[in-house]
Amino acid sequence: MHVLGARPNFVKAAPVIAALRTAGAEQAVVHTGQHYDARMSEIFFAELGLPEPDVNLGVGSGGHAEQTAALLIGLEGEFTSRSPALVMVYGDVNSTIAAALVAAKLHIPVAHVEAGLRSFDMTMPEEVNRRVTDQLSALCLVTSPEGIGHLAAEGVPVSRTHLVGNPMIDTLLANLDSFDTGRVRAEHGLPERYVLATVHRPANVDAPETASALVRHLHGVADLADLVIPVHPRGRANLLAAGLDDHPGVQILDPLGYIDFIAAVRGAAAVVTDSGGLQEETTILGVPCLTVRPNTERPITITHGTNRLVTFEELVPAARKALESGTPPADRRPPLWDGHAGPRIAEVIMEYLGE
Ligand code: UD1
Repeated sequence: MHVLGARPNFVKAAPVIAALRTAGAEQAVVHTGQHYDARMSEIFFAELGLPEPDVNLGVGSGGHAEQTAALLIGLEGEFTSRSPALVMVYGDVNSTIAAALVAAKLHIPVAHVEAGLRSFDMTMPEEVNRRVTDQLSALCLVTSPEGIGHLAAEGVPVSRTHLVGNPMIDTLLANLDSFDTGRVRAEHGLPERYVLATVHRPANVDAPETASALVRHLHGVADLADLVIPVHPRGRANLLAAGLDDHPGVQILDPLGYIDFIAAVRGAAAVVTDSGGLQEETTILGVPCLTVRPNTERPITITHGTNRLVTFEELVPAARKALESGTPPADRRPPLWDGHAGPRIAEVIMEYLGE
């Protein structure tokens, strides 16, 4: 039983579900409803060929306690009535930790896709979610080699950890021919040369003063090149209140579906983000990525990719440099980010279920 809740879960699960289908596994999909707007959810199911969820728990938004509590109650009902042999969870969102916790208490084994990533920043809800989920998982499916060491350091037995590669990159590589930057430029009226920005982390957008400071620096980037921003619903109000669109070079879009979004990323001169997945996707696409965060749980995108961490103050000079020096050559790719993580995960799962 796959538990999916938020946008990045959908991108990671698609190749795993496809590979398990090929392997002959009986599968069910529970959508928790953490993300519910058509542009944050439905469009991803349609574009990625995900099966219609067997159930949508409709938990919706709320504070951490409210949302997690609704997730726990809804998931316990599903797991109890359907008795899955294994629960699969993805990434680091609230739906992930909730599903792992409920399954563990019901003695249902959990497989965690994207185990072992660590920012070592416990002020991020995702770091809490990752650490707890990994402790509760019978199978830790690791995307990046350093994850193996992080899990070992936390006492997770090596027999539970498997380096399988990155299923988000499976999805990227499988759809490469669909990312038509010309079409997306025409359809969304994007300029010839632009920087694409996405920001949604609580640390960047929740406090109005921080959102205002960020907007000032984003305007600094827009002084250098047009800035295209598909705005995540979290932070939309604060960013707009801070005057995000009060600059002639800023173009605000609603959230995009997967295909249009990655096409827009592919066509960008550079990316500014605080997303986790986008650090990985730009690494494979060879687009310079400036991550507006003090840390990353994905350091391999710095050592083997195009990513660079920047403070607010460093953002404009770093963008200038990225725009001047162009796209770095993609000479190294993180190991096993090769489009075959889904089948590797399916192999581990089938072997485990067989035992
Ligand atoms: C969640 C994840 C984050 C991930 C992000 C990807 C947690 C703790 N955070 O953050 O790790 O990077 O998803 O997008 O799980 N909203 C809508 N429509 C939706 C969904 C959300 O309007 O379909 C708005 C609501 O105002 C909601 C807010 O966005 O309160 C935040 O949504 P939530 O799911 O709590 O967290 P995200 O910020 O989306």
